[in-house]
Amino acid sequence: MDKFIIEGNTVLKGEVEISGAKNAAVAIIPATLLVNGITTLENVPNISDVKILCEIMKKLGAKISWISEHSLKIDTTHINSTNAPLDMTSKFRASYYLIGALLGRAKRAQVGLPGGCNLGARPIDQHIKGFEALGAEVDVSQGKITATTKKLVGAPIYFDVVSVGATINLILASVLAEGTTVLDNVAKEPHIVDVANFLNSVGADIRGAGTDTIKINGVTALNGNHTYSVVPDQIETGTFMCAAMASHGDILIKNCIPEHMDSLTAKIIEMGGEVDIKDDTIRVKYNNVINPVNIKTAPYPGFPTDLQPQLGVVLSLANGTSIINEGIWESRFQYTAELNKMGAKITAQGTTAIFEGVEKLVAAPIYASDLRAGAALLIAGIIADGETQLYNIHYIDRGYEHIEEKFKKLGAKISRISNYDDYAN
Ligand code: EPZ
Repeated sequence: MDKFIIEGNTVLKGEVEISGAKNAAVAIIPATLLVNGITTLENVPNISDVKILCEIMKKLGAKISWISEHSLKIDTTHINSTNAPLDMTSKFRASYYLIGALLGRAKRAQVGLPGGCNLGARPIDQHIKGFEALGAEVDVSQGKITATTKKLVGAPIYFDVVSVGATINLILASVLAEGTTVLDNVAKEPHIVDVANFLNSVGADIRGAGTDTIKINGVTALNGNHTYSVVPDQIETGTFMCAAMASHGDILIKNCIPEHMDSLTAKIIEMGGEVDIKDDTIRVKYNNVINPVNIKTAPYPGFPTDLQPQLGVVLSLANGTSIINEGIWESRFQYTAELNKMGAKITAQGTTAIFEGVEKLVAAPIYASDLRAGAALLIAGIIADGETQLYNIHYIDRGYEHIEEKFKKLGAKISRISNYDDYAN
């Protein structure tokens, strides 16, 4: 296990380059199972979720190699198994995309029940309902999901809840199905549009990604020997925007897509921060005040749940009381207990948290409970008085590439202690 030791009181200043989007990459890599031949993916984040996914793809028979730091060459010509290793797939959430992709390719998939961050109940009933509507039989037992069919036939599917995972999974399962699939009440996140763009670039016929309804006309094959670049990470961009405000800093964020950030940009301006947007850069500058604001997380284009903890750190330092209402995950306030150890005044009950702003956070031993909580607590350690020990940083490594290097370039003082043993002395 690794931990961070963070010397605090830092005002973050300088430039940072955003990596490719985790939640797009973990869907596009399984999507290559639908392609005949070789796909080259560029701007792939070098993070642990991507590495595990590559190992699983290799077990299925794919040939995968990193041809540069951020480029993956994936050859799916010789896929020889539809059984994804249960121990590996149950380690992380995005393994559910292997069901849609394998079903689309081979009409059969067996995957461990997906794991992932502990954010509360994470059902997959909408995925299953969709696969069944296309003609698959789905069995969930003994910790695994098995989906089989003789053929997939396009169908209308109305989702009861707006789900990122179910939307992408049903796109994957239907691109090679016979006839037309119409997905209604879908999610509209930038990574959904990116998955559709990738599949269309290799010959799929997907229309409407980014709106409430997606229409997929099945095609007979997708053609490889193609290069595609993954979209920049919306959540990493927002993490640095929040870090600029929380640290009273000034950060120029490069290689991002500013319009993906509209909901956060609006809140930063409401808080009194300065935001300067150019083509693919955003500069966020603290302007001597953090006004309290209220937010409610919601599917895109609403405020992203994956940025709620990072904004929570900013609001713990606002000049007054703010309220956050979490609209997606019931257990996303676990980080507030850690911030309270650092002197924050947050009362979290159910899906609502009240933040009474304080002047300063102070260092404490703190524990990340999930990926975005980890990012938020890292920001808290960077700005707090004193030396913070941040544990469970393997969560952060799942989704942020070279996070401590990026923050160090902005002035943070962070050391990674690898394989520590706290009881050694
Ligand atoms: C994706 O999770 C992301 N993960 C999450 O990011 C993100 O928090 C979430 O979308 C919401 O934006 C990946 O993309 C790999 P959902 P996902 O299906 O697909 C309910 C991060 O930190 N629901 O959109 O699992 C569900 O309980 C991670 O990067 C059902 O009821 O989320 C939740 O309340 C954490 N039935 C809501 O829908 C279903 O079948 C949204 O979940 C599916 C979902």
